Amino acid sequence: MSSIPDVNVLLVDDLPENLLALEALIRQPGRRIFTARSGDQALSLMLEHAFALAILDVQMPAMNGFELAELMRGTERTRTIPIVFVSAAGREQNYAFRGYESGAVDFLYKPLDPHTVRSKVAVFVDLFRQRLELQATRDELQRAVTMRDDFMSMVSHELRNPLNSVYLQAQLRRKMLTGPEPSRTDAMLRLVDRDERQIRNMIRLLDDMLDVSRLRTGRLAMVPAPYDLAELSRRVVEAINDLAATAGCSVLIQAPQALPIEGDEFRIEQVITNLLTNALRYGQGKPVAVTVSRNGQQASVSVRDQGMGIAQADQDRIFEQFERAEGSQQVPGLGLGLFIARQIVQAHSGRLEVRSQPGAGAEFVLHLPLPSAT
Ligand SMILES: Nc1ncnc2c1ncn2[C@@H]1O[C@H](COP(=O)(O)OP(=O)(O)OP(=O)(O)O)[C@@H](O)[C@H]1O
Ligand SMILES: [Mg+2]
Repeated sequence: MSSIPDVNVLLVDDLPENLLALEALIRQPGRRIFTARSGDQALSLMLEHAFALAILDVQMPAMNGFELAELMRGTERTRTIPIVFVSAAGREQNYAFRGYESGAVDFLYKPLDPHTVRSKVAVFVDLFRQRLELQATRDELQRAVTMRDDFMSMVSHELRNPLNSVYLQAQLRRKMLTGPEPSRTDAMLRLVDRDERQIRNMIRLLDDMLDVSRLRTGRLAMVPAPYDLAELSRRVVEAINDLAATAGCSVLIQAPQALPIEGDEFRIEQVITNLLTNALRYGQGKPVAVTVSRNGQQASVSVRDQGMGIAQADQDRIFEQFERAEGSQQVPGLGLGLFIARQIVQAHSGRLEVRSQPGAGAEFVLHLPLPSAT
């Protein structure tokens, strides 16, 4: 609810001088006043705009104010618009308006007292504003609840499969160890390696979820210290290459000898690992290139793959929580990695950008400011 929209008020009177006088009385910033000279004109305006209030002159030639009110109460879109009748005191008082029960109705008597007019209008305008705010809050709440439900089902799904498989593997190991011909140690070790990888993945997933909740509550602390970005990148690539090798995929790195910088090395490592994991996940097994470079007062790390790429329409969205690009649903993932990565980079006064064309791979570039050379 950043910008409050104008609130519309409708004035209906057959006499232009009355409309002018009333309008002058209640005109205010934040209000948009519409005027109509007849019931018909008023109805068509009401079908087009949402009104906080309609002020109806009771005495009009073709369709009087009460008749207009009855028509309003009979139409879905206009039924709930509060009505204030303007009448000559004493004359129409015994005219019972049949729409009383169905909505807010009030009266103003001629000659109009400016103070009464203004305060009545203010009450209805405030009411309308509050209703709008309530509606927005309700929508927001609904979105949050839906998001929570989606999230819970995603997490359960993401954890259930690997846990189930680790469980089955454990049973298999038991059989292998206690069966008639116990397996050889090296075969056993290979299997244990695989278990460890799966368990590490689950831990990473839980860590991501923890980071998101820390980000939301401002508790994701950065601990800055000098470190070497080139050296860090080489280390991350080496670690990932051990994983990538099993998938038959290679990561090549081009980096200067050293690139001293300041920041939270552990968090930047997390960002680069994230980008590389994505490149392997969505890179369709093709080679991935990492380039570390320095550009004036800026250092950058580019991670480029030759995979499926990302449609223009998805390129902003994927940095939000739980957002994933069209067509990557068959690859497991929660849609948290880039969200966390961008927040970390921004906490370092840096930028994380994407360049991509569908089918032609994707390049993610991390820019970080270098400490000024003083
Ligand atoms: N290199 C890439 N190539 C193509 N699409 C990508 C690439 N990197 C990210 N994406 C798209 O952006 C989405 C969001 O990425 P992000 O890393 O935030 O989440 P994720 O990989 O789905 O899950 P996780 O939370 O495990 O990282 C991905 O689901 C994918 O659709
Ligand atoms: Mg990811």
